[in-house]
Amino acid sequence: MKLFIINGPNLNMLGIREPEIYGTLTLKDIESKIRLYCAKKQIDVEFYQSNHEGEIVDIIQSAYQKADGIIINPAAYTHTSVAILDALKAVDVDTVEVHLSDVDEREDFRKISYVSFFAKKIIKGKGVDGYIEAIDFFVNRI
Ligand code: DQA
Repeated sequence: MKLFIINGPNLNMLGIREPEIYGTLTLKDIESKIRLYCAKKQIDVEFYQSNHEGEIVDIIQSAYQKADGIIINPAAYTHTSVAILDALKAVDVDTVEVHLSDVDEREDFRKISYVSFFAKKIIKGKGVDGYIEAIDFFVNRI
């Protein structure tokens, strides 16, 4: 099984960025945990981060007929991007949406998620464990 894990803008700043909300792990730390877990489960994983909406669209498009699942934390684009939603619909790869923080407990504008119109599952407020839960979603689906 091949999974694409895609992280959106400012997630490259984890560890520095608002640690009271996002914790102190860096994206590299999160990537290492995910790679270790995927190796144990014999999952082939491709890990991406981009600060650019169009680049995220390109990454999603590259998952067409290549990935069995997408795990995406679109970060701020969650709340604004019809383009990312449309890309997910275009490639039609099963998708789990992950947020480190509980977006429902924050500002009102974070309660809207375009990606949620397509995602099979939404995981919020569980930190790095949210990504592991998302991987398990695909493992248990087999
Ligand atoms: C986030 C929540 C978003 O509202 C925010 O813009 C992010 C990160 C999260 O993981 O909690 O950048 O997706």
